[in-house]
Amino acid sequence: MRMDSLRLSARLLKLKQEKQAVLLAHYYQEASIQDAADFVGDSLELARAAKGTDAKIIVFAGVHFMAEGAKILNPSKKVLLPDLRAGCSLSDSCPPDRFANFKTNHPDHFVVSYINCSAAIKAQSDVICTSSNAVRIVERVPKDRPILFAPDKNLGAWVEKQTGRKMTLWPGSCIVHETFSERKLVQLKVENPGALVIAHPECEEEILRHADFIGSTAALLRFTKESHSQAFIVVTEAGILHAMQCASPNKVFIPSPPNQACACNDCPFMKLNTLEKVVRCLEEESPEILLEESLRSRAEAPLIRMLEWS
Ligand code: 13P
Ligand code: SF4
Repeated sequence: MRMDSLRLSARLLKLKQEKQAVLLAHYYQEASIQDAADFVGDSLELARAAKGTDAKIIVFAGVHFMAEGAKILNPSKKVLLPDLRAGCSLSDSCPPDRFANFKTNHPDHFVVSYINCSAAIKAQSDVICTSSNAVRIVERVPKDRPILFAPDKNLGAWVEKQTGRKMTLWPGSCIVHETFSERKLVQLKVENPGALVIAHPECEEEILRHADFIGSTAALLRFTKESHSQAFIVVTEAGILHAMQCASPNKVFIPSPPNQACACNDCPFMKLNTLEKVVRCLEEESPEILLEESLRSRAEAPLIRMLEWS
């Protein structure tokens, strides 16, 4: 660990004790934040951790919809996001007014929304899901109800295949998971014949069809720990490689290349957070996530239903 990171981590530890704060981090955060966090997880694990914490302050090292989710579940706690600009292209692809029209055009539909959406979309949903529990949640929807699934069309299409239930999909997607090149992935498979391909279900079908295992961020991590394979081609945001490498130091993890010669498999929103911003936001207790109570309580019901159903 660099000196800067050591100094910042020590400062963070002191602040967390003084202020009874907890640091929750997503696997897509930079390594120094994951190493300093009290809990690192995927979206479902983080929602559960946020629900279960007795800390007074939650510092959420992730993106806005995640911190907002923690606030929805903890109205009396202070929830901080190190950089308020940490949004999400998938969440942004589903504006609340257009979604309300979409619902009006599909009366009688049961609305399942992926957690990667704003509180205003959650408030219009019957139940929320994450990539870990989407199949289980959709299977619990009463069989006589048609389903609207938002906002990720790739996850939705994958869930349709797993459950055999046809759904009407909102046409949203994630800029990171749509960046992978099928041609380069196939080339990488040829160059690494022993490696297993593991992919996140936010990827497109032409990528997923090459995968040996498909799952949420935490499921991919678990798979690499339990598998006898020694090498993996990882088709998701590159931040997860840190946890994979820490858990299995002798295994080889190859990030799947994006289409262009860029670091597009790093989520630009997730990577807005830095350890320095984490420390500063706890020092200043800002930026804070604030939500109007009637919106919060409407968004809470489908989130609680998700936690009960999974
Ligand atoms: P999970 O944490 O559910 O794997 O989702 C990945 C993601 O894109 C988070 O933004
Ligand atoms: Fe959103 Fe994609 Fe970034 Fe996840 S990886 S926060 S879905 S843009």
